[in-house]
Amino acid sequence: KNSPQLHVFPTADAVLEALANFFVATAHHAVAERGRFAVALSGGSSPKKLYELLASPTYRARIAWEKVFFFFGDERNVPQTSPESNYLMAKTALFDPLGIAPAQVFAVDTTLDPAEAAAQYGAAIEEFFGDEPARFDLVLLGLGDNAHTASLFPHTDVLHTQAVGVQKVFVAELNAVRITMTAPLLNQARATAFLVYGAGKALAVQQILEGPRDADQYPAQLIAPGNGHVHWFMDAAAAVDLK
Ligand code: 6PG
Repeated sequence: KNSPQLHVFPTADAVLEALANFFVATAHHAVAERGRFAVALSGGSSPKKLYELLASPTYRARIAWEKVFFFFGDERNVPQTSPESNYLMAKTALFDPLGIAPAQVFAVDTTLDPAEAAAQYGAAIEEFFGDEPARFDLVLLGLGDNAHTASLFPHTDVLHTQAVGVQKVFVAELNAVRITMTAPLLNQARATAFLVYGAGKALAVQQILEGPRDADQYPAQLIAPGNGHVHWFMDAAAAVDLK
């Protein structure tokens, strides 16, 4: 496997700018090669600022947004109007400001039963890629302070699946159901980028990158694409415990 590439910056703002530039470069490359850019977004609080930056005047002009197709690596099992919704966050920060057409956005249908929503989302992804394997041009990921990524939480069944797809997962520590892309699906990506900032993430970063191999405890260790690198965009505070 390729070793992860670490991009460490003094401040969170510098990290966001570097990842926005990486997003632009990855989008250009994909559009030049394949005529479109398929990206799986992450949720949680960290990427909101990235999406706002991408929608800002400096970046909005640098991407052919009509060629970008948006997916979600994971979603909370809440209505799309809930403040918890990853879709709502991306819509507010990115889709609405840029006037992204609804046909370019593939969201999880959380009005369905979660297992059904997961199956339908997996089918929508397959249909999008058609005869090709489902390979996102870019998978954006966050990191929880318990070393989860997407909704691959410690000690959950989904960590053991070999299935390339989307699954429902019950997260006992949240007492909540999530819908997540599986590690085998995420690992088909052409490029993968973690966005991690803040001192609260330092221990998890150190455990994942330098700790013992134990994906049950540190699920982000499952992110190991067959092709291409994993890029870690981090601030100094998140990287402080690395050797
Ligand atoms: C989600 C995520 C999740 C997130 C991390 C980090 O829906 O919760 O996609 O994997 O990226 O929990 O979240 P923060 O950025 O809020 O710390």
